[in-house]
Amino acid sequence: MRITGLRLRDFRGYQQVMLSPPEGVTMLVGENGAGKTNLLEAVHLCCVGRSHRTSQDKEMIRKDQETAAVQLTVEKNDGKHEVGVRLFENARKRKVVFVNGKTASRLGELMGHATCVIFSPEDLSLVKDGPQVRRRFLDILLSQEQKAYFYALQTYSNALKQRNALLKQGEIRQLSAWDEQLAMAAAPVVRLRRAACQQLHQKAQTHYRYIGGREEEVFSLSYQGHLAEASDISDAMMKGLDASRQEDIRRQTTSFGPHRDDVILSLKGEPLKAFGSQGQMRTAALSMKLAAFDLLESIQGEPPILLLDDVLSELDPDRRRRLIARIGRAQALLTCTDPSDYIGARPACVLRVANGTITEE
Ligand SMILES: Nc1ncnc2c1ncn2[C@@H]1O[C@H](COP(=O)(O)OP(=O)(O)OP(=O)(O)O)[C@@H](O)[C@H]1O
Ligand SMILES: [Mg+2]
Repeated sequence: MRITGLRLRDFRGYQQVMLSPPEGVTMLVGENGAGKTNLLEAVHLCCVGRSHRTSQDKEMIRKDQETAAVQLTVEKNDGKHEVGVRLFENARKRKVVFVNGKTASRLGELMGHATCVIFSPEDLSLVKDGPQVRRRFLDILLSQEQKAYFYALQTYSNALKQRNALLKQGEIRQLSAWDEQLAMAAAPVVRLRRAACQQLHQKAQTHYRYIGGREEEVFSLSYQGHLAEASDISDAMMKGLDASRQEDIRRQTTSFGPHRDDVILSLKGEPLKAFGSQGQMRTAALSMKLAAFDLLESIQGEPPILLLDDVLSELDPDRRRRLIARIGRAQALLTCTDPSDYIGARPACVLRVANGTITEE
């Protein structure tokens, strides 16, 4: 998959920008705060419908403007796809997505046309932070893999919100209706997360061994959740909700279900977060992202777009070289502040980013 065009309008610091990156690696060079990450964020927004670093869409609208728009054109094995997103300052207006020139009625329609994997220094939070970060990692990967996952997750989240609202209001009689909805939506969510974790485990383990370069450091990743072992997921979900109902009423929130899932990470059998060094945690996060990249590539039959934000400078030269070798087949947008960081990356194009403008070097 290859980006042939990216247009931004009133997005972050950019008033108007158009880019047509070539195949291979495009290097974005600029000082801190120049707007490099903003460009990667715009691509991510077009692929997934949300930013990789904020859940507040409004932050992406250029200061003092009412609306922002981004549009991405990609060339795939099956031809050209065009996706776009428009954001509004006005809280009453919802974000609008466009697919191949038409307004799509649901956000999910965006998924799968253009796909990307972003690597950034914040990936360390995959290892260090709470379960929510790892669930989001799975959700973004699986939504790009198939729209059905995104819709099931949406249904699940809505039902969960309604059920929790009833628990807060003490409207106990109506709970059962939402229990059924939750149980139905939980099945595809759990099934796909479970399958993805099995594949991610295999792939991330191989990547860790290769990038880390130490045979004895075995990295492992496994899916953890109330329904991780369930064979009839909906049935197990209904039973779990029933069993925890009294506690839910007391705590006024839903305690059972995949919204509590986690992905357990370990190194040599020990929990990574407690025992890993900074470098080991970074290698693990990188391996997980590479595994996500592989998974999307194998499902779609072509590599997704790679967004590499400031990651080369954090790796020692050997690891940097191994990373570049692993991802050479994809089109990549790569940011750095210092051009010496990209020695070995052999960029097809170097762009200088400054003051809301982009110029070719
Ligand atoms: N909504 C907005 N409107 C206008 N400017 C914005 C908006 N949001 C962010 N900016 C500007 O964008 C810049 C940050 O851009 P970005 O995060 O892309 O920098 P960067 O080049 O990646 O820097 P670093 O090397 O430090 O990571 C800041 O200067 C900030 O003022
Ligand atoms: Mg940045």
